[in-house]
Amino acid sequence: MKPVIAVDGPTASGKGTLARRLAAELGFAYLDTGGLYRATALRLIRSGSDGEDVTAAVAAAGGITATDLKDPGLREEATGNMASKVAALQPVRDALFAFQQAFAADPPGDAPGAVLDGRDIGTVVCPKATAKLFITATTAARGARRHAELLARGEDIALETVLEDLRARDHRDSHRAAAPLKPAADADLLDTTELDIEAAFFAARKLVTARLARQA
Ligand code: C5P
Repeated sequence: MKPVIAVDGPTASGKGTLARRLAAELGFAYLDTGGLYRATALRLIRSGSDGEDVTAAVAAAGGITATDLKDPGLREEATGNMASKVAALQPVRDALFAFQQAFAADPPGDAPGAVLDGRDIGTVVCPKATAKLFITATTAARGARRHAELLARGEDIALETVLEDLRARDHRDSHRAAAPLKPAADADLLDTTELDIEAAFFAARKLVTARLARQA
């Protein structure tokens, strides 16, 4: 079994940046599992569906291609909000499960391991992961980060709107019946509120290195 690193946490906690850097540093394959839910959502938005139609949502999840995962529309705020709605549907989660598990079990490019980030990697997708990080930060810190990110991308949006969206998504992701966002019992918690990206990466790498050494 090749080592798997699970990086979970709420929206704008910094988990994506950390996971990507960990993967680059270790030479592991990287999968942004949120991108799968976002790609499902984007297909639904573009076909005019409201995300309530489970059959349409499952079909959208099953139709995702590599091109979908590179679509700039994935990063839009509306896509993220729709993603958190369709992610609450168990049949959609089921439709995306096998791909995520196969990626972890047999990382593409014959990579020596895999890093997956999401909400349920350490709890559901890879419960036996070698290292599990659960990344958090206060709502205010995450809101400010997401707001700056959206402004830099040219989306004209008020901070208060970003905070409202964030709270709604946190609530949906944490309170849904299907794979709710929560730390695995054996996860290492990392609060990035007071850390810049370098300090957060240093802390994450230290935690992961200790877990990898324990497995070796
Ligand atoms: O991480 P990101 O913001 O791209 O994820 C978008 C949405 O997809 C999240 O709000 C969450 O509802 C859902 N998601 C999930 N399980 C994952 C990854 C993402 O439910 N493993």
